[in-house]
This record gives sequence, C-alpha cells and structure tokens, in this order.
Amino acid sequence: MNQLTEPSFSKADFGEKFVWGVATAAFQIEGAANSDGRAPSIWDKFCEKEGAIADGSDGQIACDHYNRIEEDLDHIASLGVNAYRFSVSWSRVQPLGDGAWNEIGFAFYDRLISGLERRGIEAHLTLFHWDLPQALDDRGGWINEDVLDCFEGYAREICLRFGDRLASICTFNEPWVISILGYEQGVFAPGVQDRSLAMQVAHNLLVAHGRSLTAIREINTDLSAGIVLNMSPIYPASEDPLDIEKATIDDGLLVRWYMDAIFHGRYPEDVMAFLGQDRPTISNTDMSDISQPVDFIGVNYYTRNFASTGNPWDASSTGNQVTDMGWEVYPQGLCELLTRLHQDYNPDKLMVTENGAAFKDVLKDGRVEDIDRQTYIERHMAATLDARRMGVPVDGYFIWSLLDNFEWASGYEKRFGIIHVDYETLERTPKRSFLWLTDFFKNKG
Ligand code: FCB
Repeated sequence: MNQLTEPSFSKADFGEKFVWGVATAAFQIEGAANSDGRAPSIWDKFCEKEGAIADGSDGQIACDHYNRIEEDLDHIASLGVNAYRFSVSWSRVQPLGDGAWNEIGFAFYDRLISGLERRGIEAHLTLFHWDLPQALDDRGGWINEDVLDCFEGYAREICLRFGDRLASICTFNEPWVISILGYEQGVFAPGVQDRSLAMQVAHNLLVAHGRSLTAIREINTDLSAGIVLNMSPIYPASEDPLDIEKATIDDGLLVRWYMDAIFHGRYPEDVMAFLGQDRPTISNTDMSDISQPVDFIGVNYYTRNFASTGNPWDASSTGNQVTDMGWEVYPQGLCELLTRLHQDYNPDKLMVTENGAAFKDVLKDGRVEDIDRQTYIERHMAATLDARRMGVPVDGYFIWSLLDNFEWASGYEKRFGIIHVDYETLERTPKRSFLWLTDFFKNKG
C-alpha cells in the first residue's frame, strides 16, 4: 500500500511544452476578508444566510493564503509544476467594483506573480471566479448592463498592471455555475431562484466575456485569452424518449449554449425553443461581441452526467467509484468530451483547467494516504493523454486543488487538496497524491 505506483505513462509523453499546473480560486483560499481594504463579495453575504453553507462556515479565514503566500508558493515549486492557475478577488482590488482602485490589493497580486516569476512558474489568471463585489450586486449584479461595463474596466486594469507577466488570462470561470446554480437553483450566491433571470445572466456573462476580450487584446496583443467552462458528457438515464430528450437539452444548456455562442455566434435553436419565455433579451451587437476568437477553452471536468425525468440519478448505480461529492469517477468521459469539443468546434487549444476529487481524508501520524485521489488524478491524466494521441490540441492539465479549501456551499467538509489543511492551526501537510505527483513531475520527465 505504501509503495508509490508507477503510472503507465511519463511526463515526456505529453511533450515538452505541456502546461502542468495546480489551480485555486481567491475566495476559496485567501481569507483576510476584511484586511487591507477588501470589501465584501456576494459570497461573503451568501455565507451569512441561514442554511446556505453546509457547515455554517464562511471565507473569513479560509486557508489564510493571503498571509501564507510564500509558504504556499514554496509548495507549488516543490511539486514541480510549471504553472499556477489562480483568480483575483475583484473586491480586493476594487472594493466597490466601480471607481476607486485599492493599491494594497494590487500589491498582493503583484507579490503573488513576482513569487511565481522567482520560482519559474507561469501565472494563469482568472478574472472572475464567482466573487462579485457585493456593491455591484446591490445594483442588480449581472442583470444590470452597467455591471458589464464595470467588468470590462476591471479586466482592462488587470491587464494594464499585470498583462505582460501572465501566461494566460481567463475571463470567467464556469458561467453555467454562476447563472444556473446562482440564479436558477439558488444554491450558490447570490441565491436567486428564477430561470428567466438565470438565462439573462448566462447571456450577459458571455457579453461581458466578449467585451472584455476586446479590452484585453487592445492592451496585451500577445496574451493568450480565453474562458473556462464546466462541461461533461450527458447521457440519458434510460431509453425513455423523455430522458433522451432531456439529455439533449441539458447538453444544450451546459455545453452548446456557450460553445455555439462563442464559436458560431448563435444559441442552439432547440435550447431557445425549450426556454420559450425564459429566453434572454439579446441586443444587436451581442452575438458578434460574444463570438470573437478565443485563444483557448479551459475545460473543468470532474464527472459525467445523466439526465433523468424520473427519479434523481444515483451515481452509485453505475457500479463505479463515487467521490465524497457523490460524483462518479469516470475518466473516459474526459477523453470523450475533449474529442467531441475538438470535432464540433475545432478550438485552437484546449486546457484541462480543473480536475480533481474530494475524498474523506484522514491525517494520521503526519500523513494522508489519499490513494483514491492519486488514482483519480493518474487516470484522468491518462485520459488527457489519450485525447492528445487522438489529435486533440489539449495542451495543459491543472489539478484542483493545491490546498483543501472552502468548497462553496459544502463549506470545509469536502477536501479537494493535494495538500491537507488543518483548519485549527492552518498547518499544511502534503498528501500522498502530492508526493506521487512530485515524483512524476521531477523524475519521469
Ligand atoms: C468547480 C469550481 C471550483 C471547485 C471545484 C470542485 O466547479 O470551479 O472552484 O469548487 O468545482
């Protein structure tokens, strides 16, 4: 059990230029919620809502990454990856999301990027990983056109300050999650339950994406810019025609809504028909704003999905392993998804920007034997390699996540890190998966 297993592939199989990284997001790790001029985001407010977060926790301290940045950067360096994906907390650098900039906030990201530079690690920056400044939500959030302008201004400022030091920039992380979980299901901030609003948000986020791309390109012509989408293959749960139909629409809402809009400048007709009155209002120039060329599509993949019109789908019925999130372990789905995106849309470049798993880890005698996570990561790396071998231009793989962290509505109960965090002492302990990866990155090149 304690022997480190040998993967059936090596780092060299992915080619020299392959981007190997770990990923995090500001709200999930930074903490220091009230320090140095940061103002609240919608997630700070959402955490105050009774019952919103499984363990009643919040992001006030999180991993205290804001104050432990050097230690965390050292861990990234010792892992041996060449890239780090992180997000900027908008309300740390522009507390109200509009107007005054906060220099101390920018200084933190300057320290972060300098720390990466010193260690020879590429910076992959995400502008928006869900933590909208609360002040902007008070003005209507993503429903208000002004907020799209604010986002463009924020994107512009980040590029002016850091653009030439970044390996890539991503406008939005997972617009499906922001709109559907945040505005239709209400299980994520801002906790709204309204399909029609959700679809307007799904559209407005894409418009904001497109307009900010223009701004980014004006400032940093060479900077690789794209968007990160959560995607999965979706299968019907049975042969019932209703399930088959639902699988098609679910795929339309999850994958084609974003990919068709970006690559073809239109929304899928079947989804528009399905939405009926909940269709978003689309202005004249919106679709051309949205459908500008992107340098990459980031793919966040965790599991496959099933569409069921009857009883809710139970992932354990597949007989495959299920993670602590209740998500089936299905590495083939990643290869299938990457191949399909390549065939249907032919993007210049794909990167797996998130992949990883939550398991019930046990810290014992200073060790976490997370063999399940190690195996999960290894199998998904293999699936990524399979896609590459089939000619799919997938050029990067980022593990979610560097550290155990605040897993949104699940609070601190779900651990995704390759480094264990003790939330009492904030002590970091690299898990077995981390040690295995270190070996893979350092010795198998
Ligand atoms: C993704 C999010 C990321 C993390 C993982 C588990 O949807 O982008 O922040 O929570 O899921």
